[in-house]
Amino acid sequence: GLTGVEAGKRAAARAAVDNHIKTGQAVGIGSGSTIVFAVERIAERVKSEKLQLQCVPTSFQAKQLIQDNNLTLSSLETCPKLDIAIDGADEVDDDLNCIKGGGGCLTQEKIVASCAKDFIIIADYRKNSGSLGTYWTKGIPIEVIPMAYRPVQIRVAAELGGKADLRMAIRKAGPVVTDNGNFILDWVAPENTHNWEVVNQKIKMIPGVLETGLFIKMARVAYFGNEDGSITSRT
Ligand code: A5P
Repeated sequence: GLTGVEAGKRAAARAAVDNHIKTGQAVGIGSGSTIVFAVERIAERVKSEKLQLQCVPTSFQAKQLIQDNNLTLSSLETCPKLDIAIDGADEVDDDLNCIKGGGGCLTQEKIVASCAKDFIIIADYRKNSGSLGTYWTKGIPIEVIPMAYRPVQIRVAAELGGKADLRMAIRKAGPVVTDNGNFILDWVAPENTHNWEVVNQKIKMIPGVLETGLFIKMARVAYFGNEDGSITSRT
């Protein structure tokens, strides 16, 4: 069986699917390692309960997950209004504001979440945080148009402080390229940064910024899975 963090991820994913997914729904499918457990559980329930679902992916990974599990692949073109979206997060604060984009899929994730009546977060207990930046110290992901990455780096630092590093690929020389063909900056904010809603608006106003990994007031409920397989949920 699974242990520790993986057991927590699975417990959170299964609780979210079992509590929120019903037949007839259009469902946004997030990205990352935790969503894998949710899609597995959805596939189990589609088989055993004959659920009819339309699944809208948030990334290349999510699209593959949907197809590999024989679920019905849809899109925002066919299903512009979703009943629910389920996704992981890198960190979740007291007000359910999240940092997302550790896996680089923030823009499509935010679009899909914004189309859902209910946006549900699934994560292991480590991501359950009082204030953002406590657990996730790698920075706030910002997706930028490639030719703008330097000016955006400079302006983020000048206007908000801290440092925005270009995310580099691991098995390739050069920067990470997103599913949308863009680059990612990881912005480590100064320690006194608290008003994430204002920060998010300021970053989004910089020309060349496509989206930020700050998901403000979007989530309705978060399920955190503990090491023993139990759940802590917050609304
Ligand atoms: C993808 O870009 C991210 O937003 C993920 O949703 C987030 O990083 C959570 O991933 P894990 O489930 O792997 O922690």
